[in-house]
Amino acid sequence: MLFRQLFDSVSGTYTYLLAGRRGGEALIIDPVLEKVDRYLQLMRELDVKLVKAVDTHLHADHVTGLGALRDRTHCITVMGEQTKADVVSMRLADGEKLTVDGVCLDVLYTPGHTDDSYSYIMRDRVFTGDTLLIRGTGRTDFQNGDPRAQYDSIFNKLLRLPEDTMVFPAHDYKGETVSTIGEEKAFNPRLQAKSVDQYVEVMNNLNLPNPKMMDVAVPANMKVGLAQDEIARRGWALSAKDAAALVGRADVAFIDLREATERERHGVIPGSVHAPYPDLRDNIMPGGMLHKLAAADGKQLLFYCAFGERSAMAVQAAQDARLASARHVQGGIDAWKKADGPIERSPGA
Ligand SMILES: [Fe+2]
Repeated sequence: MLFRQLFDSVSGTYTYLLAGRRGGEALIIDPVLEKVDRYLQLMRELDVKLVKAVDTHLHADHVTGLGALRDRTHCITVMGEQTKADVVSMRLADGEKLTVDGVCLDVLYTPGHTDDSYSYIMRDRVFTGDTLLIRGTGRTDFQNGDPRAQYDSIFNKLLRLPEDTMVFPAHDYKGETVSTIGEEKAFNPRLQAKSVDQYVEVMNNLNLPNPKMMDVAVPANMKVGLAQDEIARRGWALSAKDAAALVGRADVAFIDLREATERERHGVIPGSVHAPYPDLRDNIMPGGMLHKLAAADGKQLLFYCAFGERSAMAVQAAQDARLASARHVQGGIDAWKKADGPIERSPGA
């Protein structure tokens, strides 16, 4: 496995690059906008393909690299389902898996620092975002932070992991790079609180100044969505309502770009074909499944996903591959449900 810890000295942010193998798929956790060129260079050097860019929570101290990485690599952006970001491609919930080929992380909802904070567990290590830091914990005084929820996330979730689990946080300001659950239990001053009330008392009296970048970072990080207007302007987008009228038509193929877990959780458009987004390139090339559906069988491809972001990128890629009939459902399944479009249970559920 490939594992890299990268540092942004301006914001004190750690970014993690994970891949199953050279030549394989990669994911990146908590990328920083100013470092995107460096990440892309490293990924070229390691010969890995970025498939997912993940933020542990909506950051207040730096602008996320999610949008720039998506624009430059067409990767999937990922956050927790509570996120207030306008559009991320995929939203995860507690208990789900975050996967790319050769890498599988358990998704753990750990609110407290913010109400959208998640941790990701991979066998011998856990990426704790700003929930649990090395000899510290993330502040809880803005972005719907809640010291009581954080106590629960730390004591009843993270500290229950095996003691030798390595802790990789999203920040450190003193040059520490890694700790373990056992070490933090023993030596993290905040975790020596005798009760939840004592912990809350400490957290409510930190009196920290706001992060310098906060007024810039938070609004920027809430507007990370792909601008889909250009796709619509070219006539390549259908509203959920207009698309719903095409269900059952023999000359239209609804193409579901989501993953199996998303299909099981949110249902599928009846009669749709499952073609996960990471396989898109192969599927739209001559000889690929979608190329055949469009070119040989003469069907109109109608892509959809969770919120319209993967499908917008898929339309562009299909158009580039000369599949001129390709369109997408603007706003994805989210908009589809709001428009009362028909849904059926995933065949795999
Ligand atoms: Fe944070």
